[in-house]
Amino acid sequence: MSENLMDKVVSLCKRRGFIFHSSEIYGGLSNTWDYGPYGVELKNNLKRSWWKSVVYERDDVFGMDAAILMHPKVWEASGHVENFFDLKSDCKSCKKRFKVADIKERKKCPECGGELTEARPFNLMFKTHQGAVEDAASSIYLRPETAQGMFVNFLNILDSKHPKLPFGLAQIGKAFRNEITPGNFTFRTREFEQMEIEYFVRPEEADEKLEEWIEARFNWYLNLGIRKDNLRQHPHGKDELAHYAKACTDIEYNFPFGWSELEGIANRTDFDLRQHSQASGKDLQYFDNVAKERFYPYIIEPSGGVDRSVLALLVDAYNEEKVKDDLRVVLKLHKDLAPVKVAVLPLLRNRPEIVELAKKIARNLKKSVVTVYDDTGAIGKLYRRQDEVGTLYCVTVDVQSLEDKQVTVRHRDTMQQERVSIDNLKNYLEEKLA
Ligand code: GAP
Repeated sequence: MSENLMDKVVSLCKRRGFIFHSSEIYGGLSNTWDYGPYGVELKNNLKRSWWKSVVYERDDVFGMDAAILMHPKVWEASGHVENFFDLKSDCKSCKKRFKVADIKERKKCPECGGELTEARPFNLMFKTHQGAVEDAASSIYLRPETAQGMFVNFLNILDSKHPKLPFGLAQIGKAFRNEITPGNFTFRTREFEQMEIEYFVRPEEADEKLEEWIEARFNWYLNLGIRKDNLRQHPHGKDELAHYAKACTDIEYNFPFGWSELEGIANRTDFDLRQHSQASGKDLQYFDNVAKERFYPYIIEPSGGVDRSVLALLVDAYNEEKVKDDLRVVLKLHKDLAPVKVAVLPLLRNRPEIVELAKKIARNLKKSVVTVYDDTGAIGKLYRRQDEVGTLYCVTVDVQSLEDKQVTVRHRDTMQQERVSIDNLKNYLEEKLA
């Protein structure tokens, strides 16, 4: 099954409307992807689950939504202008560009064996211009991380919410990096979405809070149903740390292309608040009015990727099962993540009374549960379609339903079927989905 798993997932994503190649009718923009009707539902469900777990279920984390465009001085102070580089090398023959860290035999092109140029630093930030005049003064960057939007609002949060340490800010949003070697479908792209928490703590508590967040974040992935064997923690060595971090542990997923990072949980120390204080001239220290001391809090940062998590969830949920002589493809997504919860299907689409009843049931369910109605094929085909997008329950309306006022509910994972009265259907499903 793991053979060609990635190809199978990519193909299912296109076939069923999860993820499409961007601008496909023009030949596609390389390594850029659009989320279709089921993809956007899965992504929104994932973000909702993250927000619930880090904002609503806690008392000490507040949500934010900062702008993508920020004052250019932010990126000087944050160290991104100076340090956010990858080393790149170009092949003199085939002209392909490589990230030096990815090339094992550093002297030769991995594609054609040609001679490589000297390694040169390449800043990963996308630069553009604001306003009508394109000069140095109008230069602006697309943010490469959402984090800075939270650091520069630290004072606003202190002044408006008066929180006590430890407290955090949480934000979901787009980030952009001009990656030298994007690839592996949505795993590494130039436009992606991050889910980041900046958790401000007393410096002496930083090590303990880092461990707490690593555990909390690891458990979040487990609770979403990702197989434990496919998750691991990778503490960074000194040479792997970003310019701002003192310690970091990655949560990695066992993708078909190897173990790779889903999320990093870092101790950013007081680097960012100090840097922005110095560069802006505003004092970003915290005043503890019990101890009567003023200091820069340390920051613990759990930073995950929405697109990577969606990809891991799709890969992990993909199942092929032999049913009689058929192959059943089913996405066994967690109930909170499945894009569609219920599909209502008439068994005979040429019987108007059945179609009408099925549509009425769907209309009623739609008010509280994400429900679709489908009568575009024979029942076997409709089941297969719903299995492939991970729909949790198929409700079938048949001739008997007209008489006994019951429908058949089919469970996605077990394919077991049971009769449920139409009057009780909404309660029945709401209970299952709670
Ligand atoms: N603020 C810290 C930060 O940005 P990072 O490890 O560079 O740390 C955090 O990025 C997360 O963002 C990664 O764990 C990954 O999930 C996601 N991410 C980073 N670069 C990405 C890319 N090019 N494509 C997709 N996701 C990416």
